[in-house]
Amino acid sequence: MREFSKRCIINHSLYGYGLCVCYGVAATTSNAVERERLMQQQITIGSQAHKELMCRFFIDSHVAFDPATVCWPALRTEELERLCSLPFWAEAVTTERMTACTIQALAPLQTDPLLHAAIALQGLEEQRHAALLQHLTSYYGIPVPRQPAPQPPLDVEWAFLCTGYSECFDAFFTFALFAIARDTGFFPSALVDIFEPVMQEEARHTLFFVNWEASCQAQRPFWQRPWHLWRGAVGRGLQVWHRLQMARGMGGQGDFTLKGHQALSTAISPRRFLQLCMQENDRRLRHYDARLLRPRLVPGIARALAHFLP
Ligand SMILES: [Fe+2]
Ligand SMILES: [Fe+2]
Repeated sequence: MREFSKRCIINHSLYGYGLCVCYGVAATTSNAVERERLMQQQITIGSQAHKELMCRFFIDSHVAFDPATVCWPALRTEELERLCSLPFWAEAVTTERMTACTIQALAPLQTDPLLHAAIALQGLEEQRHAALLQHLTSYYGIPVPRQPAPQPPLDVEWAFLCTGYSECFDAFFTFALFAIARDTGFFPSALVDIFEPVMQEEARHTLFFVNWEASCQAQRPFWQRPWHLWRGAVGRGLQVWHRLQMARGMGGQGDFTLKGHQALSTAISPRRFLQLCMQENDRRLRHYDARLLRPRLVPGIARALAHFLP
């Protein structure tokens, strides 16, 4: 296992997200020389140190707040109409509830106390996202159909993988949509302030997920790896296919990211939009320890598409 983990340092693209070890410390380190020195440090994917780093980063960067105590701002008539006209509220609430349910089902299966704490915390954060959206829609009178409580998936780990891949796509594009909504004044600044921590939490989720997945893969017995590699490739492929179907209008009503893109129709070109996605993704992840793996698949696709699109 150790041998394999070391090879992971070199094998940059084995898992799509890349298992290259990044070097360094938190981007907040102000001393460039010290940072450069620490950048030479390595961490082995799948090691105890890597597990502690990803769990500690996640737990330590958690921000406490209670959705029930949020003071919702009074909106002008046109602001309220704009908010109510967004087509994704029901979809967003359903997605957040299902995500919370999946992650909360995974947490008790963890035998490692640190992993248990980190995954349980992510489940709590997703539950909080759903609660925040429910408070918002109820406060502003946005109709959201009542849905039965989601049921935990039968294959929890597979569901968590699919959720993680999906979040890597959704978060990447949502960061840019949020920036557009903020910079154009589409969202009132008071609402931007309320949802800013949620955006940052989604960035943390993607970072934790890619490290969790790579760590799990590195720790598996050698004979199990082909199956899990194949499963991961299928999971990512399904997400890509799902997005292509939606982009071509063949995927039913689409997800809330796509609906958000349609609703925030601005003059931005497809290439500029992808560039904004990459910028915002980098900006949000820059705060965290550079030794942690970064999501690579979705930024890589975006970078490639940005060469072709107008
Ligand atoms: Fe969420
Ligand atoms: Fe999330």
